[in-house]
Amino acid sequence: MRTKVAIVGAGPAGLLLGQLLHKQGIETVIIERRSRDYVLGRIRAGVLEQGTVELLERAGIGERMHAEGLVHDGVEFCFDGDRHRFDFRKLIGRSVTVYGQTEVTRDLMQARDASGDVSIYEADHVSIHDFGTDKPKVRFVKDGVQQEIACDFIAGCDGYHGVCRASVPAGALTTFERIYPFGWLGILVDRPPVADELIYAHHERGFALCSMRSPSRSRYYVQVPSGEKVEEWSDERFWDELRRRVDEETADRLVTGPSIEKSIAPLRSFVAEPLRFGRLFLAGDAAHIVPPTGAKGLNLAASDVGALAEAMTEYFHERSSAGIDGYSARVLARVWKAERFSWWMTSILHTFPNTDTFGRRMQRTEFDYLVGSEAASRSLAENYTGLPL
Ligand code: FAD
Ligand code: PHB
Repeated sequence: MRTKVAIVGAGPAGLLLGQLLHKQGIETVIIERRSRDYVLGRIRAGVLEQGTVELLERAGIGERMHAEGLVHDGVEFCFDGDRHRFDFRKLIGRSVTVYGQTEVTRDLMQARDASGDVSIYEADHVSIHDFGTDKPKVRFVKDGVQQEIACDFIAGCDGYHGVCRASVPAGALTTFERIYPFGWLGILVDRPPVADELIYAHHERGFALCSMRSPSRSRYYVQVPSGEKVEEWSDERFWDELRRRVDEETADRLVTGPSIEKSIAPLRSFVAEPLRFGRLFLAGDAAHIVPPTGAKGLNLAASDVGALAEAMTEYFHERSSAGIDGYSARVLARVWKAERFSWWMTSILHTFPNTDTFGRRMQRTEFDYLVGSEAASRSLAENYTGLPL
């Protein structure tokens, strides 16, 4: 088999890249280790920046997002029970759209089916070869048969645990990492959200987040120590803990119900540099991880592949290497801004083991400063609603 771009991974990064290239008449093959249903079953991000919304429109999959997505003009922060709303629209005239990663993935999968481009799910033993030459290849086993795809480029969109970054020779890659001593326990529930907008809460017992997927489906998170087991968290225990971490009014308004999904995500900051090795390009979680506090993971994956699709289009249509040569530096500049914002949000909103009273006072003072300063509020609004590319 031969194609122009072999895309490893059918998460949002891989599927969106495939769709953007399809729009430009550039053929791709997507190779994914899991089944379609497994990929669709993963509950992850929920907030889309304006730039991501526009990119999904350009990719031709904006219709359902506009019909069903919820436009939010602000978010609330709650610190030890004191709540404050940051009005993005008033501060900077921008908003975000709440539309789950599952829905984006579903829309992209449908578009891919219609495009006629090949996707191979449940591919075993995926490996990449010769990306230092002009004849890169992807090998895998499908239904017990070894297969090979020759291509012009390989797009490594295979997430943090994927094979692409791991195949880069040691020494060619520099990595930067911070692992936080806690994770987020999240539940999904078919009950109306507690508020119209997201509430990010800091409490001495830990962080909590009230989010949503639709007017009838809510998503809630509480910070838990690393190593915590999801089986130890009954729904009752979760609701009790959430109620304790938010303000009284929110606690009273909370409509609880049986969880339809419950999982723990570890928190990590990670960046690999550079993002290009010959004819291999890394994008999305394969290249970088942010803690979810800033709602940036999915948005970064989208902006990465937006830039990569442009660069590859320039290469195939104009025979210019300028875009692919500049890809890594262009994308990393934005990645580091998102890393800073996500790290900062994580630092003020979570409780850290071994923090002294001074550390907690600094978090409170940072919150008061944010609330009291128009410039600081505007900076939060700008970073949350969309970082410039
Ligand atoms: P992924 O979505 O990870 O997709 C990579 C794909 O590659 C997967 O389908 C995987 O099966 C496939 N793959 C892996 N290895 C191979 C291989 N060897 N061969 C072939 N295919 C392979 N972000 C937020 O903004 N908010 C959140 O609440 C949030 N929650 C998260 C919870 C969890 C548990 C995780 C892991 C991430 C979360 N994120 C969140 C981050 C966000 O979901 C990611 O940034 C986003 O999914 C990145 O998309 P991606 O396509 O780069 O990677
Ligand atoms: C979510 O709805 O899953 C969500 C929202 C905002 C975040 C993280 C996760 O910052």
